[in-house]
Amino acid sequence: MSDGLEDVVAAHTVLSEVDGAAGRLVMRGHSLDELAGHTSFEEMAALMLDGFVPDLPAMKDLPAALGAARQELFETVVRKAVIPVTLGPVEMIRAMTALIPDGEDAGTVLRLLAAPAVFTAASLRLRQGLAPVAPDASLSQAADTLRMLTGKAPTKQQAAALDTYLVTVADHGLNASTFASRVVASTRAGLVSAVLAGIGALKGPLHGGAPGPVIEMLDAIGAPTNARAWLETALDRGDRLMGFGHRIYRVRDPRADALKGAIRRLGADSGRLALAEAVEQAALAILRERKPNRTLETNVEFYTALLLEALGFTPDSFTCVFALGRTTGWLAHAKEQIAGGRLIRPQSVYVGPQPRQAA
Ligand code: ACO
Repeated sequence: MSDGLEDVVAAHTVLSEVDGAAGRLVMRGHSLDELAGHTSFEEMAALMLDGFVPDLPAMKDLPAALGAARQELFETVVRKAVIPVTLGPVEMIRAMTALIPDGEDAGTVLRLLAAPAVFTAASLRLRQGLAPVAPDASLSQAADTLRMLTGKAPTKQQAAALDTYLVTVADHGLNASTFASRVVASTRAGLVSAVLAGIGALKGPLHGGAPGPVIEMLDAIGAPTNARAWLETALDRGDRLMGFGHRIYRVRDPRADALKGAIRRLGADSGRLALAEAVEQAALAILRERKPNRTLETNVEFYTALLLEALGFTPDSFTCVFALGRTTGWLAHAKEQIAGGRLIRPQSVYVGPQPRQAA
């Protein structure tokens, strides 16, 4: 048995390859460098789902179809559902997503691709006591997400930065949330159920819940000179440093630099970036000293936190934005699983007591 299923192969996929030794990510035959910063959310969805959803509108019609799906969800879910605002943003988008009828058709795929955009913006506004902003179907999904969040049209640079993020996190091999989606899809439960499984797994701090705490860490450290002492104290307490370490990568996560580039292009607060870089350098040095036998490098979540903060998302909503990018991967994997895979049903080894023999 392999603890945490490390080294277990559970799927053959044409969707993505994570080379943890070389620090390389390939999605449908393209390196992350080719995609991030050059591809929109819509183009990435079309690429990932190519061949898996025969009735999905062609790329030229996809932005409008997604826009129509955003409008439909706003009318049928956001305007009608009563979701308690005492829930966190991820719990709110999970609850709203559960109201979409299950299915495996192109309409369900479009609704699920559109859902986190509409539900994230609506959740954040409702939690602030503001009225949700209706979608604008003529905008790209990235631009409309930011517009629904703030009520103002974003700049081209802001929309491009969000596209870069969404493309960067679109897929990543058999990570925990994608595996969860594939398990549910393998039972033929439907794509909504598969995406809900993905959201549930993503939410945890060891996976997609890490970037919110990165902001708490940066705020608590406050200035580069405080970094080393703060980090040492956190590790002495037994805490893990959020945004560092990875199951697969033994070198720097290539997505970290893709996102750092997007932060620079956005022209975000240079003081904040300088603080983050100082914290990163201190953390890497301390982790090397303390865990000489385990390579712990920066992962995607560290610069995710900075980029999404610069785009106006609150730390408790970062996981929702991650879900917006990763839904593309969950859907493609679910479709791939349905097309060719059997029910996923591994074995367990019982180590509990046996019934007592009758005398
Ligand atoms: N800070 C401090 N120590 C760490 C960290 C960290 N971030 N990550 C791993 N370690 C230590 C562990 O304590 C363990 O030490 P030990 O052997 O002395 O007990 C050793 O490194 C190995 O850790 P594992 O838990 O076996 O590593 P695993 O591959 O299971 O974990 C994970 C990967 C969950 C990402 C881990 O590195 C972690 O918790 N990181 C912090 C949370 C985070 O950033 N999550 C986002 C990951 S990226 C993503 O999912 C999109």
